[in-house]
Amino acid sequence: MEQSRTQKHTVVLVPLPLQGHMTPMLQLGSILYSKGFSIVVAHSELRPPNPLNHPEFIFHLLSDGLSGYQASIDNLKHLALAMNSNCRAPMEDYMVQLMEDQKLQGYPVSCIIYDSYLCFVDSVATHLKIPSIILRPNMAAYMLSRHYVCQLQAENRIPFPESRLQEPVPELHPLRFKDLPYPITNEIPEWIMDFFASSVNIRSSVAIILNTTDCLEHSTLSRLQQRYKVPCFPIAPLHKLGAAATSASFLEEDQSCIAWLEKQPPNSVLYMSLGSLARVNEQELTETAWGLANSGIPFIWVLRSDSNDGSQLEDHFPEGVKALLRERGLIVKWAPQKKVLAHSAVGGFWSHCGWNSTIESICEGVPMICRPHFADQSSNARYLTYEWKVGLEIENVLDRGSIEKSIRRLMVDAEGKEMRQRMSVMKDKLEAGLQKGGSSYESLNDLTEFISQLTS
Ligand code: UDX
Repeated sequence: MEQSRTQKHTVVLVPLPLQGHMTPMLQLGSILYSKGFSIVVAHSELRPPNPLNHPEFIFHLLSDGLSGYQASIDNLKHLALAMNSNCRAPMEDYMVQLMEDQKLQGYPVSCIIYDSYLCFVDSVATHLKIPSIILRPNMAAYMLSRHYVCQLQAENRIPFPESRLQEPVPELHPLRFKDLPYPITNEIPEWIMDFFASSVNIRSSVAIILNTTDCLEHSTLSRLQQRYKVPCFPIAPLHKLGAAATSASFLEEDQSCIAWLEKQPPNSVLYMSLGSLARVNEQELTETAWGLANSGIPFIWVLRSDSNDGSQLEDHFPEGVKALLRERGLIVKWAPQKKVLAHSAVGGFWSHCGWNSTIESICEGVPMICRPHFADQSSNARYLTYEWKVGLEIENVLDRGSIEKSIRRLMVDAEGKEMRQRMSVMKDKLEAGLQKGGSSYESLNDLTEFISQLTS
């Protein structure tokens, strides 16, 4: 790969091969490239990013023996463990070579930016005396809530009484105990606790980059900054900064969504997606299909082929509902989500509330139906529904009646219109943050300056 003479220093990115983590890392890479850094992506054999989407980057495959491995919610533990034990040696070998090559060519390595789960990077960086920076793909509040779970565990307060789950968590407004990252009414498995402890530990990193913004999390960011003595750079929405956003999708995006949306009236369509990992069982699927069909609202529904047990999902729908759904909407395996949300025909988003989906929805002013599944999703949903009042949550067991009602509340009722107006105000604030003088704009400039000064 030819490096342009305008690039001065090299930044090495090490992403976790999960969609919700890979996307922000590559987006950050594009932004830093546009700021004059040469970008190297050192990645797993598992789900490697497509180099054709980023001809400006150098890609290096770490031989970790993980090709063919399943990256699903059931084996996250093994994925992180395997990467941490298999990647250290190949990463160190590669970095030694890269530092020599890049120095000779005039692009010295400034730092490594890595996903917080990948502790092996810290070990390599420390050994080779390269500064490292952590990228957190979630809300800043999620880091604090993980700290809090570690604290509860240390104080022997887990299992926590079910009767107190609705109570507010002290110092974590607006979160309740039930919004914490893992159900705390039972013992938490040791490996999850290790995960939490490791993800709040920034090790020897010299800074933290967060996929969030001051206008969403001003006070939380101040607290985070006090806790971690290193600089925190909140920069979001990443996909709206820097170079034109290219796809980071592992799955092929079904572009027929856009042509279909062109034929729909403004704000009429409900977009439904549960991100890249969450799954539903057959009963939830059937109830959702009936609730959606009975609501009468047009929709695009993303049903990944691994959303349940691997069978064709639509095959589970009863014949009656299949016909109704076909008339009114589109079921796809993977959508060009950012384009879909940006389309004027989309008036609502039924989401698992992964942070990327949440921030993508906010920046297009699309109010949400929140159906969180795990990790940060409950706390994101709490912010959306309670703090920002731009979403409504479907809690408890999914049944067709409450689904139909919630969809109509969001898409048709005055309540939904008010949420859309509030979302539109949030969208304006995010956009203002991207302009000169805005918080994300300035934070990005500070980060660029900070990285430039790391180069010896
Ligand atoms: C995971 C966790 O679930 C999430 O809670 C955490 O915040 C990040 O890591 P994921 O489940 O994939 O992420 O959800 P999310 O963060 O929303 O990321 C999904 C990404 O896939 C989004 O950028 C979205 O635009 C994209 N996507 C999703 C598509 O491009 N097409 C689709 O059809 C669905």
